[in-house]
Amino acid sequence: MTSRRDAEHKLRALREQLQRHNYRYYVLDDPEVPDSEYDRLMRELQALEAEHPELITPDSPSQRVGGAALTAFGEVRHAVPMLSLENAFEAEDVREFDRRIRERLEVEEVEYSCEPKLDGLAISIRYEAGLLARAATRGDGATGEDVTANVRTIKAVPLQLLGKGWPRVLEVRGEVYMPKKGFEALNKRLTEMGEKTYVNPRNTAAGSLRQLDPRITASRPLEFYAYGLGEVEPDTLPGRHSEMLEKLRGWGLRVNRETRRVKGVDGCLAYYADIGARRDGLPYEIDGVVYKVDRHDWREELGFVARAPRWAVAHKFPAQEMMTVLNSVDFQVGRTGALTPTARLEPVFVGGVTVSNATLHNMDEVERKDIRIGDTVIVRRAGDVIPEVVGVVLPKRPKGARKVKLPKKCPVCGSEVVRPEGEAVARCSGGLFCAAQRKQLIQHFAARRAMDIEGLGEKLIDQLVEQELVRTPADIYRLKAETFSELERMGEKSAQNLMDSIEKSKDTTLARFLYALGIPDVGETTAGDLALHFGELEALEEAGMAYEKLRLKLGDEDPKEAEKQLKELDLRKVEGIGPRVAEQIGAFFGQAGNRKVIADLRKGGVRWPAGAGRAAGPQTLAGKTLVLTGTLPSMTRDQAKDLILSHGGKVAGSVSKKTDYVVAGSEAGSKLKEAERLGVTILDEAGLMRLLQS
Ligand code: IVH
Repeated sequence: MTSRRDAEHKLRALREQLQRHNYRYYVLDDPEVPDSEYDRLMRELQALEAEHPELITPDSPSQRVGGAALTAFGEVRHAVPMLSLENAFEAEDVREFDRRIRERLEVEEVEYSCEPKLDGLAISIRYEAGLLARAATRGDGATGEDVTANVRTIKAVPLQLLGKGWPRVLEVRGEVYMPKKGFEALNKRLTEMGEKTYVNPRNTAAGSLRQLDPRITASRPLEFYAYGLGEVEPDTLPGRHSEMLEKLRGWGLRVNRETRRVKGVDGCLAYYADIGARRDGLPYEIDGVVYKVDRHDWREELGFVARAPRWAVAHKFPAQEMMTVLNSVDFQVGRTGALTPTARLEPVFVGGVTVSNATLHNMDEVERKDIRIGDTVIVRRAGDVIPEVVGVVLPKRPKGARKVKLPKKCPVCGSEVVRPEGEAVARCSGGLFCAAQRKQLIQHFAARRAMDIEGLGEKLIDQLVEQELVRTPADIYRLKAETFSELERMGEKSAQNLMDSIEKSKDTTLARFLYALGIPDVGETTAGDLALHFGELEALEEAGMAYEKLRLKLGDEDPKEAEKQLKELDLRKVEGIGPRVAEQIGAFFGQAGNRKVIADLRKGGVRWPAGAGRAAGPQTLAGKTLVLTGTLPSMTRDQAKDLILSHGGKVAGSVSKKTDYVVAGSEAGSKLKEAERLGVTILDEAGLMRLLQS
């Protein structure tokens, strides 16, 4: 137990901090610390107040909901206060919540409505006689801001309710949010315009809604989900939350399709696990799920405590953003020589794993975010995405924090580092002299979707390059089984297996081979397009060299005139190849060293069906874009992808209006849903096979 004096002292400090964070979060939409830090401080405050209840003051942040209203907007008093939710972090907290409810109600089992907890901004929309009359933010729960003009610009919010039978006054409550895609696109736009970016979609939604100029709000991709009610007059609505949501849906309001009615706490926990597993695939950010007692009469019986109802709880997911200290910055050299600043962090548990390295993307980002060594930073890890540093907690910057400096020499090979004027990326100029670039080129060359050399993995490649046994991809085909068996920890059997897979990889396609060469900006799709267009490697080589020759000749010409001439060359006639990619292809084939490696590879036995290009099958899917999702019954996703590519089709990673078909197997998730929403044709494996033959 903390002594009373210590507790008073500590309480004052905690309250001050929380008040400050509340202000930054609710009033400025610009939080300094991640939510996880706010939650931690709040829990500390609540625990201390529980120990010393006599020290609780009415203005303690634990007793309040949200923050004060921003005065620039008119004030709206909520007829029914907008409350907050109690948080649960562990399954045991949820069991406790359910136990308390069953005890109070004296019932055996409770039905709950389970909903994703969207990370956006709570809003109350008032309809009078079916017409949108007013919209307000939560504010401090009792009084919010009038954001009617801005909410009217959100397309998902009906200005007039559909159908009939709505009460004279109907206040719909829900969340305004920005989908992940919209958030990324907006931040990209803001970066390009040199403006301040938002740290997360929640922030962005809030910042976008609270614009004084509704035209700005209108330009932001905001959406809305309804999940509750405020004032309803006369109250003729169904007696269950789930039925009420159905009613709202019928009146044209958007209700989350992931909402489920379940029985008991086990139903809740199963829902939590299911949504948790699909979290990254959802098109919006969520920070947990919400369980609500479904029966309204029971809710009334349960009532409220200080800031939240007893009949609902938010079950949070592990935080995806945490604070930690940036100890140092290293630079990693990629396949094309790009230097990526990498943060070395004080290890921190975030997004379900311990993270000690995170990407800083490039020097522009480091400078824009003003990240310094010694800073306390916010690290984000969402799903399988590489952890990244999203920002600095400025108030925690120590005196001696040092700026991050781009090294003048490559940390791997010592060659000059160049960063062309106006470009974000700095590169090592060492090319294949640089071991880091060589290693990664070889890794790329051997990868499954390139030459597919099974067993030639990262560790082995490191050894081969370090001992100078492999300098270029062509050297792979000169290796002998004895060489492998001499390498550390490789038995004779494994050495022979590896020799076999090297041998097997020689039979390939032109498209795979081109992709394997690792020409900057030439991914699988471009490699396929090149193979299809040229059919033969020699033709492409010639086109590349011709392009490079003309480009160098035009070097000092007026860029417009140069582009006019370059556009006429064969290389630019290939679908999807613009000046940037053409320049890379030209530069690659223009180098005699690269042409020599290609010749050596062919001498070493690498071959592909003559004249076929990518066109191994009839081009029944030419011009079509497909998306694969879920598990197919008789082939892997890679096999399906190859089939589609060989029939002239394209495979995209996400569903959009431009998608022609979605091929769905079992356990297909959000992509299937998105296809249904957009009305994209959905096929199963058999349907795909029929399409290939049509
Ligand atoms: S119900 C009295 N349902 O979470 C119950 N809230 O911490 C009030 N939120 O202010 C809220 N998704 O901004 C509810 N399905 C959902 C929600 C949700 C997100 C937010 C909302 C609220 C906060 C409570």
